[in-house]
Amino acid sequence: MAKLFETTTIKTMTLHNRFVRSATWEGTAHEDNTVSSKLIDLLVRLARGGVGLIITGYATVRADGRSVPWQLGNYSDDHLPGLTLMVEAIHKAGGIIVNQARFKGFFKPKLKDASKFGQIVNKT
Ligand SMILES: Cc1cc2nc3c(=O)[nH]c(=O)nc-3n(C[C@H](O)[C@H](O)[C@H](O)COP(=O)(O)O)c2cc1C
Repeated sequence: MAKLFETTTIKTMTLHNRFVRSATWEGTAHEDNTVSSKLIDLLVRLARGGVGLIITGYATVRADGRSVPWQLGNYSDDHLPGLTLMVEAIHKAGGIIVNQARFKGFFKPKLKDASKFGQIVNKT
């Protein structure tokens, strides 16, 4: 039987154990959706504490796709330096990180062309 402390792989990722921090919006990115040092510090603490895989809080894929304030962004080259720093810091701390990408969502369900972006719309 698989054990929590066993190494495992998911596709190309090798995880030191099976502890996963589920995607959790921390509200610590900057207003322009770039990574903050506060966010890096938080995630590094999780990696140092032994979490094998960290999933980021939802990162918006467009500027008009934000669903909550201070969330990460994946829509501009300006986001790359911070995201790169974040990934490097997690790897150095022994962790693996996956980015959860999202467009709008629960709090903004009335987008007309929602299905184009994979959004599930409640039809009731
Ligand atoms: C403050 C907060 C932020 C969250 N942010 C996200 C998120 O960005 N993406 C996501 O898929 N789930 C998010 N969730 C859901 C969590 O990842 C998790 O599925 C939920 O808290 C249930 O966890 P549990 O089964 O361990 O109680 C969030 C939950 C909380 C409480």
